[in-house]
Amino acid sequence: AGSVLQVGDLSLEEVGAILALADELEAEDAAKRAERLYKRRVSLLFYESSTRTRTSFELAAKALGADTSLVSAQSSSIEKGESLKDTGITLKALGAECIILRSPYSGSAQLLADVTGLPVLNAGDGMHEHPSQALLDLRTILQKLGKAGKPVSATLLEGVTVTICGDIFHSRVARSNAQLLPRLGAHVILCGPTQLLPELAASMGPGLSIERDFDKALEQSQVVMMLRIQAERLAGLSLDLEEYKSRYQANAERMAAHAPKAVIMHPGPMIRGLEITSEVADGPQAVIAEQVHNGLAIRMALVDRALSRHAAGGAAKTVAKA
Ligand code: CP
Repeated sequence: AGSVLQVGDLSLEEVGAILALADELEAEDAAKRAERLYKRRVSLLFYESSTRTRTSFELAAKALGADTSLVSAQSSSIEKGESLKDTGITLKALGAECIILRSPYSGSAQLLADVTGLPVLNAGDGMHEHPSQALLDLRTILQKLGKAGKPVSATLLEGVTVTICGDIFHSRVARSNAQLLPRLGAHVILCGPTQLLPELAASMGPGLSIERDFDKALEQSQVVMMLRIQAERLAGLSLDLEEYKSRYQANAERMAAHAPKAVIMHPGPMIRGLEITSEVADGPQAVIAEQVHNGLAIRMALVDRALSRHAAGGAAKTVAKA
């Protein structure tokens, strides 16, 4: 209970409750908010680098009064070969009541939840999912389209087209958004070259289509999400970057011609000059900093939800009995 491993774990009612809790926590008096999870223990277990997700989860847990500890691959016994299972059991024995995991391995968040019995928040597992990113993206989209605070339903985003452009194949952000947004009625267009978006991706689910021509996709879209090319996962794939830029880069000329009013998003990190130019990233259509800002409220809601559903001291008692 309380884990969020993929967006499919959440009913639309639960998505609505998380958005409402994020609003409530953001507005709450800081001292009162810090009483919510006073001295509860939250572990951040990061096997991959992160700036936004790690910092915002840590700040979120601290804002709720929790104690946090960070274990990263480079400075822990993971470097000596300790398994995810043993690392999880160790953190639980030390009193962790919730683990926030980022890992290069798809499915590792589920495994950690299974072996520890603790609520696990998936902060990105390989090419699988990044559910907290999809939730903060949803909060941003609702705010920008004037739909914040409205009840979450299967029709809330009816008539809205979102294009996700770039390295779809390797992107957990794309996978989580492509599964969440159509459930609220949005049409999601996936856009990119075949190396980064195989035809197979069309079987991802309803409400999705593929458009290889970025300009055509832009003309239909109210929201555009640009993605980084994930060089660390590209092994064996060759890509002509100049051709990629000419076809898929979000630049000022293209946006003015094909989507002058669209909301432009990017989960970060951005590679300026490749998938997006600085002119667009820093321009009036971009909401990239607002996405980052929304990460804090969403992650406060996820941590609060996880620990509210997990009794205080439960982990320590389970270990003592074992
Ligand atoms: N969007 C995102 O996950 O960024 P980080 O890798 O910096 O956490």
